[in-house]
Amino acid sequence: MLKADNIEVWRGQTQVLKDLSLELTPGVITALLGGNGSGKSTTLYALSGLVPLKAGRIWAGDVQLTGVGPRKAVAAGIAHVPQGREVFPTMSVQDNLLAGAATVTSRKLRTERLERVIATYPLLGRKLKLAAGALSGGEQQQVAIGRALMTNPKVVMMDEPSAGLSPAMVDTLIDTIRRLGDEGLTVLLVEQNVGVAMHVAAEAIVLKAGAIALHRPAGELLRDKSVLAAYLGH
Ligand SMILES: Nc1ncnc2c1ncn2[C@@H]1O[C@H](COP(=O)(O)OP(=O)(O)OP(=O)(O)O)[C@@H](O)[C@H]1O
Ligand SMILES: [Mg+2]
Repeated sequence: MLKADNIEVWRGQTQVLKDLSLELTPGVITALLGGNGSGKSTTLYALSGLVPLKAGRIWAGDVQLTGVGPRKAVAAGIAHVPQGREVFPTMSVQDNLLAGAATVTSRKLRTERLERVIATYPLLGRKLKLAAGALSGGEQQQVAIGRALMTNPKVVMMDEPSAGLSPAMVDTLIDTIRRLGDEGLTVLLVEQNVGVAMHVAAEAIVLKAGAIALHRPAGELLRDKSVLAAYLGH
């Protein structure tokens, strides 16, 4: 499964990730928590091949992903839903979803994947022809997740999907993420919202200053007030 061994990432003169090691448990939803600037997004970028490593290695099972770049990471089954739910606002929901399978040459396969995503998220099926920008924030988040699913991933990484959503939309999102777990996917979920993390995650990792501070069962970690105060400022 997806694993980072002693990775280091630098941005200019700043070391952002410091000797970071983690391994995701297959089929489990893991929350990745940490204060602002602790390196959560950079960890996702590193795991999806979007930033170079200065040291360390990344593996997807037996496949070496170190330095291979984002396309090969996608081919190895790693999907990344970036921070800020980026959809193409003027494109239809259908075209947004199909963009996730742009490298799939078989039209039949693309259609099959689209049908599978719609089966999981019927709401998207009802809005296929609408411009994605016309959807609510929660619905756009489903489009962004659906696009990631079009790559047929084994691992889905999501960066703060609940940010900016209303409480009702957050409930929909929780349902959406749970469904990924029910389908047997491995999920790495960056969340500032501890409530969301508690509702969906079985394991939780806390980052502090670019290194892993804790990796424990989510229920245990997220109920520990001293942990929340020390690492997350709650
Ligand atoms: N392109 C960049 N150039 C310089 N520094 C960067 C760059 N990207 C990130 N950093 C720095 O790396 C550190 C970690 O950033 P990162 O975005 O990974 O944190 P984060 O935990 O996702 O934060 P947030 O909760 O704000 O999303 C921060 O100190 C940030 O300023
Ligand atoms: Mg971030």
